[in-house]
Amino acid sequence: MTKSFKTFIKHTAKDYHNQSVNPPIVRASTIIFKSMQDIRKMQEKSKKDPTGGHFDYGRQGTSTTHILSQILKEIEEAYHVFLTPTGFGAVFLSIFSVTRPGDEIIVADPTYSPTRILTENFLSEFNIKSIFYNPHDLKTLEKAITKKTKLIFVENPGSNTFDFQDLGKIVSIAKKNKVLTAIDNTWATPYFLKPMNLGFDMSIVSATKYYSGHSDVMGGTLAVNKKVFKQVEKTNKITGLRLGPDDAYLITRGLRTLDVRLDRHQKNAKLVAEFLSNYKNIKLLYPHKKDSFNFRMWKKYYSGASGLMGLKIKSKNKNSVIKFVNSLKLFGYGYSWGGFESLALYQDKREQGNRKYLKLAKDEHLVRLHIGLEDPKDLIDNLKRSIKHVK
Ligand SMILES: Cc1ncc(COP(=O)(O)O)c(C=O)c1O
Repeated sequence: MTKSFKTFIKHTAKDYHNQSVNPPIVRASTIIFKSMQDIRKMQEKSKKDPTGGHFDYGRQGTSTTHILSQILKEIEEAYHVFLTPTGFGAVFLSIFSVTRPGDEIIVADPTYSPTRILTENFLSEFNIKSIFYNPHDLKTLEKAITKKTKLIFVENPGSNTFDFQDLGKIVSIAKKNKVLTAIDNTWATPYFLKPMNLGFDMSIVSATKYYSGHSDVMGGTLAVNKKVFKQVEKTNKITGLRLGPDDAYLITRGLRTLDVRLDRHQKNAKLVAEFLSNYKNIKLLYPHKKDSFNFRMWKKYYSGASGLMGLKIKSKNKNSVIKFVNSLKLFGYGYSWGGFESLALYQDKREQGNRKYLKLAKDEHLVRLHIGLEDPKDLIDNLKRSIKHVK
């Protein structure tokens, strides 16, 4: 990327051929050629240059998906970026590309609960063992490495508990032991953190969230380095994972304003966090100031913070915390964050997943807030009135 992120994302992918500032949506199952010779020529090109967008079948993509992949390759500073129909599809692709029966993987304890279910339960059906490490104690990670370990799967920050981990240290442990690394970077996106530059082999983003930004698309991206490219390409082909051109177009459109939206999410989230940190019964799980939880570890690697935060609320009365959440009328109740709107969720066992290292006292409750692009004064006003319900 020659220009800054902000400039690149506004100027990239102009279509002078069609005289349109945006590339067209090309929908095709049949990629059509003028002769058999042309088909063979394309297939030869594809063999020589497998990331160059030389397609002979719609499942491989069209120019619309290729453009998105090329933009993301620049942003991620990756060798290639695979597009998947959902973010979870990218999680699946990363793991199944590099593991086989008899292997082991080591996973951050606070991963997104479907990732937890995939690694803890589903992988065992393929005789692949998952071991979970404590994100605040990397000795538990080092100790878990055996000769069978193929992959360290990180999610940063940890889902719902917002644990920031020493990413550089994780990569160096992995390299020392010749183990591959993958990170779920959905919270920050490469706008705030570039995992490939830290030495990760694979980096996942759920494009459903900030990339698209408007709560109406699903998609996923898996950035890879040269080392794992062939393995991922093979698995991608065999599983038939593909993002449709209409969704790819919407994600490309969303990317144009990713920086503007994330800057505003961050600004609003900081204001909300500052306001909430006045309450003694609330511990903010968000890196908004020097003495906040995990600030040092966040600062070490990130250039910014997005709009998703956790609140650890102390109360002997669970129903009063739920009442607080339910009275947040400017916040919707829903799971998929990263859109323009604010959201709230009371985090029960279902959302926390089956964690080994999560130490929540009986009188501690987790609430997740996604701070959207509304006027922060309105959000704070709503929170101020609702918080009175916590007893
Ligand atoms: C951290 C993280 N990774 C992956 C996913 C899955 O993304 P998708 O909903 O696009 O499948 C989510 C969804 O909430 C998520 O929060």
